[in-house]
Amino acid sequence: NSVFQGRSVLAEKDFTAAELEYLIDFGLHLKALKKAGIPHHYLEGKNIALLFEKTSTRTRSAFTTAAIDLGAHPEFLGANDIQLGKKESVEDTAKVLGSMFDGIEFRGFSQKVVDQLAEFGGVPVWNGLTDEWHPTQMLADFMTVKENFGHLKGLTLTFMGDGRNNVANSLLVTGAILGVNIHIVAPKELHPTKEIQDLANGFAAKSGAQLLITDDLDKGMKGSNIVYTDVWVSMGESNWEERVKLLKPYQVNMAALKKTGTPDDQLIFMHCLPAFHDTDTEYGKEIQEKYGITEMEVTDEVFRSSYARQFEEAENRMHSIKAMMAATLGNLFIPRV
Ligand code: CP
Ligand code: NVA
Repeated sequence: NSVFQGRSVLAEKDFTAAELEYLIDFGLHLKALKKAGIPHHYLEGKNIALLFEKTSTRTRSAFTTAAIDLGAHPEFLGANDIQLGKKESVEDTAKVLGSMFDGIEFRGFSQKVVDQLAEFGGVPVWNGLTDEWHPTQMLADFMTVKENFGHLKGLTLTFMGDGRNNVANSLLVTGAILGVNIHIVAPKELHPTKEIQDLANGFAAKSGAQLLITDDLDKGMKGSNIVYTDVWVSMGESNWEERVKLLKPYQVNMAALKKTGTPDDQLIFMHCLPAFHDTDTEYGKEIQEKYGITEMEVTDEVFRSSYARQFEEAENRMHSIKAMMAATLGNLFIPRV
């Protein structure tokens, strides 16, 4: 049995730097196998439940295709398809699903629900995003960073935007664990909570990561290798007016990238997606009508520039989720890390 066998992936804080790096490297290996057309059926005969309370394009598609490539059967259970939350408790749902499925993915609002599924399910449970954390996104993100730079330690990633959302929380803590310097650039109202900062500071003291939380764009951007942003209004929120007002100065545009002072070949842009970079969506049109802006967290220019890595990042969701599922559920030999 490996250090991963049977484990759930609920939040990044439960993993060591060596464990996270193992999963990242395993993801890169599985990507190479996939590109070479080499089968990797580590989960032959397994059944996997995919629970979604919130909508998803990447996470759902990544878990589905990853499961099938691994020889497993994925089953999508949407919020309106099952009794969870309405007629049945999380505990009872977990016991039932755990008796039939070998692994459970959950995307939803409350971290408590995914924690409880793990507590009562008796099988590995994977957090596909909650209001607090987005751990599978982190595996893909740091895999993408490693793919681009060849290493992680010592790089600087700047997240600019809503510094209190799930992705910002996860980047701050994961970077702190891995020894990647993390800057959060956001208006004071949207700085990470003290609890999250304390958690990250604890890890940073061990890894040597430099953390900076600031509302000053010049300071925050300086020396950055990766500029990262996310939507200003996350799933489950609707406070557009307040967010547009607060975050307008914190848009990732070419002027912001320039502030890094980083040579072009040492600088990339990332976004977990979906992104509001034009008015080609229903939301985009609504925002344009109400607030007179056509771009939000990132300009179309940056999104389509040579710095942009968001689509490689999206693809890597599949490879890294594959690595995570195979490591926690597969019968493969993994040396102790
Ligand atoms: N990045 C991400 O989680 O995308 P989805 O919401 O489409 O799954
Ligand atoms: N912060 C975003 C991430 C989407 C992948 C949200 O929660 O909606």
